[in-house]
Amino acid sequence: MRICEMTNYAKRELSTLENPSAEAEWLVALTLNKRRSDAMLSDEISKRDENKIIKNVARRKRGEPLAYIVGDAEFFGLRLFVNRHVLIPRPETEELVECALSFIQKGQSVLDIGTGSGAIAIAIKKFTGAAVTAVDKSRSALKLAKKNADFHNACIEFLESDLFEAVKNRKFDIIISNPPYISPSDYEKLEKTVKDFEPKLALFAKKNGLEFYEKIIMNAKEHLNENGKIFFEVGQGEASEVKKLLEKDFRDIKIKKDLEGIDRIVYATKSGEKYV
Ligand SMILES: C[S@@+](CC[C@H](N)C(=O)[O-])C[C@H]1O[C@@H](n2cnc3c(N)ncnc32)[C@H](O)[C@@H]1O
Repeated sequence: MRICEMTNYAKRELSTLENPSAEAEWLVALTLNKRRSDAMLSDEISKRDENKIIKNVARRKRGEPLAYIVGDAEFFGLRLFVNRHVLIPRPETEELVECALSFIQKGQSVLDIGTGSGAIAIAIKKFTGAAVTAVDKSRSALKLAKKNADFHNACIEFLESDLFEAVKNRKFDIIISNPPYISPSDYEKLEKTVKDFEPKLALFAKKNGLEFYEKIIMNAKEHLNENGKIFFEVGQGEASEVKKLLEKDFRDIKIKKDLEGIDRIVYATKSGEKYV
C-alpha cells in the first residue's frame, strides 16, 4: 500500500475523533518515523509498516493517547520518551518551567518533586546548568526519566522517594513540583483518554486535590536555603488555596495565569527567620 492510502484509511477509522485528518496524519507519520507532511506521499510501504499502522490506529480508536502509542512527546523543545508509567507532559508545565527559569542560576541546586518522565528536571538542567535532583515514588517512572536524561546528556540525580523522604537532611535553592492535583470528584469527570490510560499515581490527590501541596509546603521550609524559592503548577481553582498554605512560611507569593487565562502557577520565596 502507499502511505497516502494508509493515511486515508486512518482518517476513516478515526472519523469519530475531533480532528481525524490531523490525528491520522500524525499517527501515520510518527509510526513511520517521518514528518507529518510526508503522510500524503504516494511512496509504497512494507507489509510490516502497514501492519504497524493498522495496530496503532486500533489503539488510537480505543482512546489511547498518541504519545503512548508512538512512545514519545515533546516538552520545551526536547524529545521525551513516554510510557504508561508517566504522565504525558503538558503545555501548562512548559509555562511552569519558563517561569522558574527566569529565577534559576547556574550553580544553584534544584529539587523536582514528582519528576515523572523527567520533563521539568531535564529542561531545567539543559537550560540553566543548575544541580538538579529529581524524586518520584514510582520506580518505573524513574527508570524512564533516567533514560530521557541520558538521551539528553543531562546529569541529574534521580532518587526513589516519597516526597522528601530520600533527601531528609538536604537543602536546595529551588523546589519545583507539578504534583498530582486532581480531586476525587474531578477524577470522575476526566476525559477517557486521561482516566483510562494515564497513571492514577500521577493524577489523583485527596483533600480536594490539595493533599500534595499541603504535604510539600509543610516540609518545604526546612529543605530550602535562605531566600530559596518554591514553584508549583496547580489545578484549576486551587491557586488561592495553595497561596493560603504558603502564607505562614513564604513571602512574595505570586500567582501566574497560563495561556488559557487559568491561574496555573504559584511561586514564592522562603521568609526569613523571625527573632523575638
Ligand atoms: C502530575 S505528575 C507530574 C510528572 C512530571 N513532573 C510532569 O510535570 O510532567 C506527578 C508525579 O508525582 C509522582 N508522585 C505521586 N505521589 C508521589 C509521592 N508521594 N512522592 C513522590 N512522587 C510522587 C507521580 O508518580 C508522578 O510522576
